Amino acid sequence: MSDVTLTQMPTGLVAPEWEVLADEAVQPALFRPIDDPFEARRHVIVGAMEGDTPLGLAVARQMGGNSLRLDWIAVEESRRRQGLGRRLLRRCERLGQKRGLGWIHATYSSRDDREAFAGLLANAGWSAPELVEYRNAGYSGDMDRLGPGWRAFVARVERQGFTVTPLAEISDEDRRRALEIETEQVGPRAAGYSRYLRQMDPAISLAIREHGVFQGWVIGVSHPGAGYHRYISGFVAGHLQRSGWLIAALDKVMRLQAEVYGPKSVALQEASVEYPEMMAFMKRRLTPYALWTEDVFLCDKRLPPGPAG
Ligand SMILES: CC(C)(COP(=O)(O)OP(=O)(O)OC[C@H]1O[C@@H](n2cnc3c(N)ncnc32)[C@H](O)[C@@H]1OP(=O)(O)O)[C@@H](O)C(=O)NCCC(=O)NCCS
Repeated sequence: MSDVTLTQMPTGLVAPEWEVLADEAVQPALFRPIDDPFEARRHVIVGAMEGDTPLGLAVARQMGGNSLRLDWIAVEESRRRQGLGRRLLRRCERLGQKRGLGWIHATYSSRDDREAFAGLLANAGWSAPELVEYRNAGYSGDMDRLGPGWRAFVARVERQGFTVTPLAEISDEDRRRALEIETEQVGPRAAGYSRYLRQMDPAISLAIREHGVFQGWVIGVSHPGAGYHRYISGFVAGHLQRSGWLIAALDKVMRLQAEVYGPKSVALQEASVEYPEMMAFMKRRLTPYALWTEDVFLCDKRLPPGPAG
């Protein structure tokens, strides 16, 4: 193993032989020279080579919040369990530390087989996996399968003054209200209106109104080729939380997606662990109709302070 060397590749995985170690988690952009200086700076790419043969790969990115996110690590199948993964990981940690970052983190899904990865992180002193998100994917046209009780529930919320309108068509006054709601929620329960707006698909994003007044939103995104439409932010003002308003909005946006993209178009809903009620609700009510579900786990490790300068 001593003839395996680790090399940093700040300009990307330009040589095609690296593709054998990649999967969809490795951005296709990394296979072209990274010419955007910002992207080049935030990436940490480490390859393990034996001569000209790639044997291992680790890709990480510097994120906001003082952390390096490990996006992907892989070792060629016949060379696993020989300490290469550990070396690659250690190199990423050191590079994060050198950048003065306080943390390194990674997430993985219960849908993938990540036993070896979890073992690798545990072995390297990372935190135990912590559930951070639950995802549920289903056909947008299946809302009626939730039964008459569901419809009655939505009708009840509507009688309280609930309506929805396209989020792309809100007024300046509404926008001010959105920012106000967002500001009220700063902290662990960040509402994320401005953050996600740029990605929104206007065809499946809604404003939630109480007797006409803007009180929340649902933001859907449509990535071409993803095979699903993803709901990345849904939020209502404090006084309407835990009252079913967000769930009624979910019903509306699902029906809208079915109309626009067809009833067999897939919707991916996410609930962060910061919203335990929503997560519990999704698990209880939506899981029976799901095509698939996944738990997303986070592991991290504190990095010791880097060398001065
Ligand atoms: C995860 C992966 C990179 C580990 O690489 P590796 O070179 O085999 O890891 P190492 O030999 O350095 O193992 C270091 C420690 O990790 C743990 N570990 C590694 N593989 C493991 C496995 N299959 N099961 C349990 N623990 C494992 C062990 O504690 C091991 O120490 P030990 O061999 O002394 O017991 C490799 O299994 C891989 O490429 N998997 C497929 C890709 C993948 O799933 N990537 C993660 C998603 S980002």
